[in-house]
Amino acid sequence: WINPSSPLYGAGFAVEWRYQFRGRGRLILAYDGKTDRLADTQEEGATLDFEALHEKGNASLLLQEAKVLHSGTYICTVYLPHLLAQVALDLEIEEPPSLSIHPSTLPLAVPGQTINVQCEASGFAPLPVEFSWEIKGADGKSKTLDSFSVTGHRQAWDRTFSQTSRLEIDTSKLDLGRGGELTCVAAHAGGTRRTSVTLNVIGFSSPSIEDSMAMVGVALVLYGLIKFVSWTFTSSGSAEADKQDKKEK
Ligand SMILES: *[C@@H]1O[C@H](CO)[C@@H](O)[C@H](O)[C@H]1NC(C)=O
Repeated sequence: WINPSSPLYGAGFAVEWRYQFRGRGRLILAYDGKTDRLADTQEEGATLDFEALHEKGNASLLLQEAKVLHSGTYICTVYLPHLLAQVALDLEIEEPPSLSIHPSTLPLAVPGQTINVQCEASGFAPLPVEFSWEIKGADGKSKTLDSFSVTGHRQAWDRTFSQTSRLEIDTSKLDLGRGGELTCVAAHAGGTRRTSVTLNVIGFSSPSIEDSMAMVGVALVLYGLIKFVSWTFTSSGSAEADKQDKKEK
C-alpha cells in the first residue's frame, strides 16, 4: 500500500495492537489509515511512529517507560481490504533487585555471640535471584559465608518479586578479629546488586591505638578536674582561715 504501483496503493488499512497475559487480553492501540488517527484507548504511553508508518509501513508499537507490568504477549494485526496479517511476540522486562539489610546497623558483637542478619531483595523480575554473603576483614581478605537460608518468593501487585535471605554468623567459628564489612550479594539476570553493613566485634585482644589514646585523654581530663576541685577547696579554706586570724588579732 505504500508502493504506488501496487493495486493496494491508497487503499485503507488498519493496525491493531493487542496485549495478552495469562489468558487475559486487551486492546492497546488501534490505528485507522483512512482517518490517519489512533482510536482512544485506556493505554498510557503506547503509540506509533507516524512518520515511520507513512514512509516505510513500520507499524511498531512504542511503549514509553516499559515496566515489569508490560511483560507479556503482543499481537499485531494489520487489516487490508480482503487481507489480514498477524504476528505475535513476547516481551519480557528484566528488573534487577533493590537490596536492603536488616538491621541496617548491627549491634556490637561479643566473640562467641551468634548474629542474625537479613537481606531483602525486592522489586525484581523475572525469577530467580541467587543470594550469597561475603565478609571482608580488616586484613582486606574476603570470605564467603554459607550459613544462610532463603525464604520463598512473594509477588507484588506490579508483578515484581521479593525474597529474603537470612544469615546466621557464629562469631566463635569465624576468625573475625575486630569485625569487618559484611556484604549481601544478589545475582540476577538484570544485574547483580550488593549492599554492605559493618560488623564490629568488641572485647577482642588488646585495645587499639585509638582506644589507648582515648583512655589517656580521659585520664588527663580527670586529673585536671581533681586538681581544679582540690585547688578551689584549699584556697577558699585558707581565705576563711585568714579572716579568722584577722578577727582574733
Ligand atoms: C521500525 O521502528 C522501530 C521503532 O522506531 C525500530 O526500532 C525498527 O528498527 C524499525 N524497523 C524497520 C524495519 O525499520
